[in-house]
Amino acid sequence: MKLPTDSAITIDVPLIREDPTLVNTQITRGLQGHPKTLPSKLFYDERGSTLFEQICELPEYYQTRTEHQLLTQWADEIVTMSGAEELVELGSGAATKTRVLLTAMANANQLRHYVPFDVDESIVRRVSEELVQEYPGLQVHGVVGDFLFHLEHIPEGGKRLVVILGGTIGNLLSHAAKDFLTAVNAEMSSGDYFLLGVQLITDRSRLEAAYNDRQGITAKFNKNIIRVLHNNFGADSHPDLFDHVARYNEDAHRIEMWLRSRQDQTLNIADLNFSVPLAHGEEIRTEISTKYDQPLAQELLASSGFEMVKWYTDPESLIGLALTQKP
Ligand code: AVJ
Repeated sequence: MKLPTDSAITIDVPLIREDPTLVNTQITRGLQGHPKTLPSKLFYDERGSTLFEQICELPEYYQTRTEHQLLTQWADEIVTMSGAEELVELGSGAATKTRVLLTAMANANQLRHYVPFDVDESIVRRVSEELVQEYPGLQVHGVVGDFLFHLEHIPEGGKRLVVILGGTIGNLLSHAAKDFLTAVNAEMSSGDYFLLGVQLITDRSRLEAAYNDRQGITAKFNKNIIRVLHNNFGADSHPDLFDHVARYNEDAHRIEMWLRSRQDQTLNIADLNFSVPLAHGEEIRTEISTKYDQPLAQELLASSGFEMVKWYTDPESLIGLALTQKP
């Protein structure tokens, strides 16, 4: 048996090299805003990615398994329609659901390249190693970057299927989502396909339960951002000095995650030469997770230059998969 050679894997790391001060500015800007915010990408160091994988298995977190089922049902059709030989995934994480698409591509004899794009270097490397073993002949070209800034590092390829799954797009405010998808569109060739997974608007109790799980994994994930600030930026605070808060903002149809300070404290971030006072009870917003409906998703995609090909949803309308094409 021929073992895959190392040349099956290429990893490009624009994250730090391109602009080492990018994230620093994002952190200090966010903490000077009203409300105070932190960039959600900071969740995803190695520990954060692992916690997120645990979230995906929680009984309350219906999103992952629902999307997984939808993909399992429709992957062959999506892959065949797209005719793609390269799968590009923005926010690829552990690439669990991706395997459904990769397997459909392999079965259709269409699988040549996979491009995992993620902000966490450890997970891009791990997934790349796994996938070249699992799919003989597959070439993986990983990109470790911030997809809002480093899209141009996606390698040139053949006919592509670009995917953003899991509701990752929900992390962006609507104008930012439109700008981002417009930039994704600009990286694609005419005729390429784009698959967007969105979380759909549903009842508050179900949504809030998904972000307030009984095992407290989501709370650990939220507080991991403080650990990352400590480990990577020399911040002096501690996760235990914050409470996890997640609530549904109905007007903006989004879950918001916050960290609420348990006491008066000053957050000193040594490496950034920056401090900010936090009052007892004051909250920092760490994530928004916007929920869509079909018209909202369709409008977002159309305004970003994509043509709707087919809309897939589950019986309870919890997840939407929009298959689109660049004209
Ligand atoms: C990865 C952004 C889709 O918003 O549901 C899960 C992240 N945060 N639980 C989501 C998340 C808390 C997740 N996304």
